[in-house]
Amino acid sequence: MKILIKGGTLVLKDGEQRADLLINGTKIEKISKQISADGCKVINAEGKHVLPGLIDMHVHLREPGFEGKEDIESGCRAAVAGGVTQVCCMPNTNPVCDNAVVVSYIKNRAKEVNLCKVNPIGAITKGEQGESLADIGKMKSAGAVAISDDGKTVANSHVMRLAMEYANDFNLKCLCHCEDASLVDGGVVNEGYNSTLTGLKGSPRAAEDIIIAREIALSESLNIPVHICHVSTYSGVEIIRSAKSRGVKVTAETCPHYFALTDDIITSYDTNTKVNPPVREEKDRLAIIEGLKDGTLDCIVTDHAPHSLKDKQVEYNLAAFGISGIETSFAVSYTYLVKSGKMTLSELSEKLSLAPAQILGLDGGEIREGAIADLTVADLSKKYKIDSAKFYSKGKNTPFNGDEVYGKIEYTLVNGEIKFPF
Ligand code: DOR
Ligand code: ZN
Ligand code: ZN
Repeated sequence: MKILIKGGTLVLKDGEQRADLLINGTKIEKISKQISADGCKVINAEGKHVLPGLIDMHVHLREPGFEGKEDIESGCRAAVAGGVTQVCCMPNTNPVCDNAVVVSYIKNRAKEVNLCKVNPIGAITKGEQGESLADIGKMKSAGAVAISDDGKTVANSHVMRLAMEYANDFNLKCLCHCEDASLVDGGVVNEGYNSTLTGLKGSPRAAEDIIIAREIALSESLNIPVHICHVSTYSGVEIIRSAKSRGVKVTAETCPHYFALTDDIITSYDTNTKVNPPVREEKDRLAIIEGLKDGTLDCIVTDHAPHSLKDKQVEYNLAAFGISGIETSFAVSYTYLVKSGKMTLSELSEKLSLAPAQILGLDGGEIREGAIADLTVADLSKKYKIDSAKFYSKGKNTPFNGDEVYGKIEYTLVNGEIKFPF
């Protein structure tokens, strides 16, 4: 059956346009001012916005191994509830996703769950031990879309250089978690005034910046693309901006918590504020927004890192790092970037959908005739309170609980099928 999305405002690459949108099978067949509803299921989008489905290229689905925190089904339910039609999942599972069998397992399970598209990311090294390279070619054949050391930086620069070269031979990018463990040295929050005030151990910006600079140096010297994960520092933004201006093939992502929050929140000692890299200071937050605006930061991801209550209901130093972010990503981004006048909705949509698709060569990310019908319908006028108890994710760990935001997801369609509401 055809689906007609009627009366909505379409968010296109170059602006917004009020039009009807007809879906036939898995594709967008027609976009026009008035399309007849004969023989169609109609979605009334009057007063609502129709966006390309969000593509979140950095999430943790936890399966296999940590199903108490999240599994592929709960993670995908959370994704579509958040307007996300496609995710890329990080390999720090148990067993680690460092071989073709785990890649295939994730893909097969996601197919059974049949909610959003799931693209596995393989580990850079076997067991994430930072020593010998994983079976990158075999993981690619099984469907891995990138490799990453997320959660644990490959400390040995020679190993990272080999990984970039080897991955590039298979046309895969390294997505780099940038953290010098010797400088982090047990730090749990940003090193600064608030770490001193709270007595919580700080982790300096330099811990992140040194590895950002290293990955860029490797990329530049090899002339191989590299992608920097979850940029949180003003100085990291500067390093990437300068590299881009020299033509280095570097792309970078940031997360909603880095442009919406500062480390003032840690004074509550709420462990839901504990995330890696840590939320930093106002000058970092402003630089992240500038970086998004001028293209230094290409895309917005969530680093959705669900944890169970018992991982978070402990003293700050012992709590797990991570924020469950996939259900709040759109609203927090819309509220802090568009509603606040920092960028247009089309610009935000590019950061959330098209840019990640382009970085990883995935299908999707834009609304046009002939494109895949991965779509999100949102009501931007609706103000609501974030309530983590209502999350579909098993991870209720959000620092945004109780915050008022705009931008409610009304429908999520994947391959032309309505996946949300359930
Ligand atoms: O806060 C984080 N949580 N940062 C990471 O790099 C890993 C992630 C996780 O897996 O929980
Ligand atoms: Zn990470
Ligand atoms: Zn991550």
